[in-house]
Amino acid sequence: RLEEDLADKKILVTAGGTQEPLDPVRYIGNYSTGKMGYKIASEAAKRGAEVTLVTAPTSLDAPQNVEIIKVQTAQEMYQAVMKEEDSQDVIIKAAAVADYRPEVRESNKIKKSDSNLTLKLERNPDILAELGKVKGDKVLVGFAAESEKLKANAKEKLIKKNIDLIVANDITAKDAGFASDTNQVIIISEDEEVELPNLSKREVATRLLDKVNQYLKGE
Ligand code: C5P
Repeated sequence: RLEEDLADKKILVTAGGTQEPLDPVRYIGNYSTGKMGYKIASEAAKRGAEVTLVTAPTSLDAPQNVEIIKVQTAQEMYQAVMKEEDSQDVIIKAAAVADYRPEVRESNKIKKSDSNLTLKLERNPDILAELGKVKGDKVLVGFAAESEKLKANAKEKLIKKNIDLIVANDITAKDAGFASDTNQVIIISEDEEVELPNLSKREVATRLLDKVNQYLKGE
């Protein structure tokens, strides 16, 4: 592989888990650490791409030579991605986006009482599905964290969201998925399923970008 084989390509990556505020001190979140997305952004930049990283809060250091856009909620991520999407060659959605947000964001801290509390949640936009609707020539890549029927569920998402590649991982597997430094994935396209062994997230990023590059070249 050439050193700068992604030169002149614009790649947007999303990473981290969105946070959906309930009140000034609480939010609904998930276990995503952002490691996978940050590795993809950093590897893409090393290979010469012009990279934008739209990131939900993480504890990770910003990768070198990457433009960073910080967001908190799914709606903010949606706005940021939609503003940039038109100029991108590739969009890789590694973020764990909350499907629902609290209907009300209280301006004061919610007080406890002796009774139970019921939260009302409303749907967030599915950013990847919205991108699929305005796909054009872009290469769109999604992730699918599944706990059952891995391949079938991932393939269904590929088709339903109108995307090119989906990186499926079994979140119940050992040393894979959230927080881990390694990941075991299957890269699924319309006509191919490539099962990779357990690899470092950096190596998974490399393999994924190789695949993306094949698409860019029309192979
Ligand atoms: O449907 P599901 O959430 O499993 O799909 C996962 C893929 O869709 C990931 O790439 C994720 O970033 C993206 N997604 C999104 N907006 C949502 C939910 C998921 O972009 N509201």
